[in-house]
Amino acid sequence: MHFNRIVQVVTAITGVLVSTGEAVAVNPLPAPRSITWGTTGPKQVAGFLVLRGSPNQIVSEAWNRAFQTITTLKWVPAATEAPIATYAVFPTTPAKVKRAPSLLIEVNLSVKDGNAPLQHDVDESYTLDITANSPVISITANTTWGALHAFTTLQQLIISDGHGGLIVEQPVSIQDAPLYPYRGIMIDSGRNFISVPKILEQIDGMALSKLNVLHWHLDDAQSWPVEMKTLPMMTKDAYAPSQIFTQSDIKNVIAYAQARGVRVIPEVDMPGHASSGWKQVDPSIVACADSWWSNDNWPLHTAVEPNPGQLEILNNKTYEVVEKVYDELSGLFTDNFFHVGADELQEGCYNLSTITQDWFAANSSRTYDDLAQYWVDNAVPIFKKPANRRLIMWEDIYLSTPHASNVPKDIIMQTWNNGLANIKTLASDGYDIIVSSADFFYLDCGFSGWVTNDPRYDVMSNPDPSTPNFNYLADGGSWCAPYKTWQRIYDYDFTDNLTSTEAAHVLGAEVPLWSEQVDDTVVSSKMWPRAAALAELVWSGNRNAAGVKRTTELTQRILNFREYLVANGVQATPLVPKYCLQHPHACDLYYNQSAISP
Ligand SMILES: *[C@@H]1O[C@H](CO)[C@@H](O)[C@H](O)[C@H]1NC(C)=O
Ligand SMILES: *[C@@H]1O[C@H](CO)[C@@H](O)[C@H](O)[C@H]1NC(C)=O
Ligand SMILES: *[C@@H]1O[C@H](CO)[C@@H](O)[C@H](O)[C@H]1NC(C)=O
Ligand SMILES: *[C@@H]1O[C@H](CO)[C@@H](O)[C@H](O)[C@H]1NC(C)=O
Ligand SMILES: *[C@@H]1O[C@H](CO)[C@@H](O)[C@H](O)[C@H]1NC(C)=O
Ligand SMILES: *[C@@H]1O[C@H](CO)[C@@H](O)[C@H](O)[C@H]1NC(C)=O
Ligand SMILES: *[C@@H]1O[C@H](CO)[C@@H](O)[C@H](O)[C@H]1NC(C)=O
Repeated sequence: MHFNRIVQVVTAITGVLVSTGEAVAVNPLPAPRSITWGTTGPKQVAGFLVLRGSPNQIVSEAWNRAFQTITTLKWVPAATEAPIATYAVFPTTPAKVKRAPSLLIEVNLSVKDGNAPLQHDVDESYTLDITANSPVISITANTTWGALHAFTTLQQLIISDGHGGLIVEQPVSIQDAPLYPYRGIMIDSGRNFISVPKILEQIDGMALSKLNVLHWHLDDAQSWPVEMKTLPMMTKDAYAPSQIFTQSDIKNVIAYAQARGVRVIPEVDMPGHASSGWKQVDPSIVACADSWWSNDNWPLHTAVEPNPGQLEILNNKTYEVVEKVYDELSGLFTDNFFHVGADELQEGCYNLSTITQDWFAANSSRTYDDLAQYWVDNAVPIFKKPANRRLIMWEDIYLSTPHASNVPKDIIMQTWNNGLANIKTLASDGYDIIVSSADFFYLDCGFSGWVTNDPRYDVMSNPDPSTPNFNYLADGGSWCAPYKTWQRIYDYDFTDNLTSTEAAHVLGAEVPLWSEQVDDTVVSSKMWPRAAALAELVWSGNRNAAGVKRTTELTQRILNFREYLVANGVQATPLVPKYCLQHPHACDLYYNQSAISP
């Protein structure tokens, strides 16, 4: 089977055309929902491809970028089902490419509604057709955003002919649309600063892989990096004057993302994970700031990680400040969705809060769940003010200890604990869900612990394997170890066990990259190309038409895509020795290509 393919591709490139739909080296990611290759042979692409039918400037500029990439990269698929050394990089025979009967000279685009805004659930479908005899590449889309996806597919289809020109290997017909409307990554600029150029680099990777949501965890307890015009003192808690996002920086990020079909959803984490910035406005709105944090001394334990700080839920001033912050950011970010945090509320923090302890003393029936409910009842009306606003919260507000019992059902829950079990619970309780199960999707896992003065590392021997210790056969301080590989991410069947009604509540999925150990130097290598495995999982799924898991088939696709990301300026990490991408499936663990069972 593979030997057949190798022969076919090689002969196609040296000009002796073999009629087979399989003889293509191109392997776009994400795999389209439906792609049918013709058999009549390569089509040459003109030195300039004109775009007709652009409905607006976003589409025109996206085409200019795509075409610029096509002509400057003259991409040679780096990992194909054929060995690259015999492919087009180092042609060993003189040029003898058979000219296709007609040259491709234009893209004929037809967009039904060029004005549909980039918001949740907008139609992202497109079709792309290249026929044997027409010089026209036909693209249809219902919206601007579908057209952009067609371009990122097309730019992966047009490749070098090995002799300075460009080809599409065969006529092709694609009908494509995403399985899920929410396909995201999360960056965290609170734990460490991430610069605007590095954020734009993430957006470039997203556009190429058809991810459409950048969830931006703006701040955390550690720092407040966002310029606030109404509360300018908040950025006293930025790490440095140079590590502040001005409002024009943020507008630029949003515009850059929108031009690439990517929504930017801000998160301000409240009432937990809140200290820096807030305490500059008024120290009385933050509980337990600057207390001891760890549980080495349980009664003093106030936080899951340093530094502590949670908003004072019972202080009326808190809501005045929250409203100012929220209103200002609501005016800046253009998405209908807004993430308001609500994870990991720590009871111990409020041991240091007089107002809270007095509240409990005044009525001994009150619990911390009542406190969480108080937050929901008082904060959610503020958050819901903007028209069309939909809120996202971490599932903790509903499922953890403590939690509120009455959380409005129109709030979207982002799930990160207990894998399939929590997805099932939230969906059966009627919540819309974003899947970010930590055991599968957290990209920061497996990079060790980071808290200091930790004696657990000071162990000289490895015990019997049946008694794992911290450093040996255990997590080494990374609470969600081990590292999640691209295969782990792609293999996650996150709707298993859901009824169809429950499954309809799954809006999509997102890979978070928490940044305790991430800044500009590593953000792209930790994000990519693993986020591309998620991208295909939520775009066209992890199964072939027969319902069989196609992780092995993704191998060459993602190895090629990693090289393509790097070529496009996204510093994605290598996944394998280069030998493996040049020798398809030579690095598989199993000879049996069906070893990953349905
Ligand atoms: C371009 O597309 C439009 C709409 O689908 C169609 O009517 C027209 O004939 C096409 N033009 C060419 C040159 O293919
Ligand atoms: C556009 O919308 C129509 C009607 O909802 C749908 O049938 C079609 O598949 C969509 N996509 C494209 C590319 O036309
Ligand atoms: C909080 O206060 C309670 C009651 O005094 C005490 O039992 C507990 O140890 C304190 N700390 C935490 C983390 O709960
Ligand atoms: C806080 O606000 C509530 C409701 O608006 C009000 O009843 C209460 O008196 C206020 N408390 C203080 C201390 O201002
Ligand atoms: C005391 O708190 C409990 C639990 O929240 C509540 O049901 C009850 O109404 C409260 N009693 C008074 C007098 O506020
Ligand atoms: C999914 O359903 C199967 C079969 O009913 C069951 O064995 C399994 O425990 C369930 N998994 C979860 C995570 O609920
Ligand atoms: C390959 O693996 C699958 C799944 O484990 C198994 O069903 C099949 O029998 C194996 N094929 C061979 C030839 O061993």
